[in-house]
Amino acid sequence: MKILGIESSCDDTSVAIVNSKKQILSNERISQDDIHQFYKGVVPELAARNHTYHIDKMTKKALKSSGLSLNNIDIIASTAGPGLIGGLLVGLSFAKTLAQVKKIPFVAVNHLEGHALTVRLVNDIKFPYLVLLISGGHSNFYFLKNTNKYDFIGGTLDDAVGEAFDKVGKVLGLKFPGGPEVEKKALKGDENAFIFPKPLLRTVHTDLNLSFSGLKSHVIKLVNSNKNNLISKSFIEDVSASFQKTVSDILVNKLKRAVKYCNEKFEAYDSVVVTGGVASNSYLRKKFIENIISSNKKPFIPPANLCTDNGAMIAWAGYERFKLGYSNSLNFKAMPRWPLDKRNAL
Ligand code: KG4
Ligand code: ZN
Repeated sequence: MKILGIESSCDDTSVAIVNSKKQILSNERISQDDIHQFYKGVVPELAARNHTYHIDKMTKKALKSSGLSLNNIDIIASTAGPGLIGGLLVGLSFAKTLAQVKKIPFVAVNHLEGHALTVRLVNDIKFPYLVLLISGGHSNFYFLKNTNKYDFIGGTLDDAVGEAFDKVGKVLGLKFPGGPEVEKKALKGDENAFIFPKPLLRTVHTDLNLSFSGLKSHVIKLVNSNKNNLISKSFIEDVSASFQKTVSDILVNKLKRAVKYCNEKFEAYDSVVVTGGVASNSYLRKKFIENIISSNKKPFIPPANLCTDNGAMIAWAGYERFKLGYSNSLNFKAMPRWPLDKRNAL
């Protein structure tokens, strides 16, 4: 089977074709970084307008690079939420129109489900498994029992970790999105130059919740009160490295606890997955892998280009759902808020 997947929930317009043999036949993506650069953040209306502009071009490109036509496509899958409503409406309406015109099944995919299942497109990994999903909008732990059986077990109470990376990048005067830029600066910095707060790690906090807004504000305050140092390369590098190390310490600590929690609470499992845009960070990937192995689990992190938003993850999740007998009517609504554990009902 060949599945065409459409992703437009934030600022990437991506269309991909994957097949049921786990081959990615095309994965076209255009980012809008240049447009949002000026504002150092995603402007929802501009994002929606640009998705409208790019979506048909990306679809044609995905078909051309895979050597296929719409007549060869068996399923259309599209992100239906969570995300920015304007972008979701563009992708969803486009996908439904294709499905209607070509009379092929339509599958509505939860964006988080796309991130959480991508690993099965590139690895031979079986359910159940533990997922840490870290992106620009989410920082959550899930236990995946099966396709469509997702338990939320903890997550951020405020900012997502990607958002914190982006705000730190912004205050340091780096390009948008800040995440990859902070990682680059951190390479030359001293990660022990600054001590930043690590909230919710004391043993009284027995849950798997996370918090990044205090850490973000602390870094912003430090930088603002050292404005003169911003001209110094080493200050920017040291702040980047210290921030990245703090994020790593927090996530690794909580991931260890999540492994333990799932060992006690759920059926036996042997794999731990980290995914989402922030999981493309090489420093964090290394720390996660070391830590997961030391917890006697098998680490799985998709390649960087499948961690950030992409159409292939949506096509694959659409196929996984279809295989289980799920498809959706063309009445399916876009849902800006759509927690992954609520997916089970739809
Ligand atoms: O999954 P994603 O592409 O979109 C959302 O669903 O949000 O994640 C985007 C987020 C942004 O905040 C971006 O700065 C962050 O992932 N990110 C990174 C890196 N690459 C992307 N954060 C840290 N280091 C990176 N290398
Ligand atoms: Zn995402």
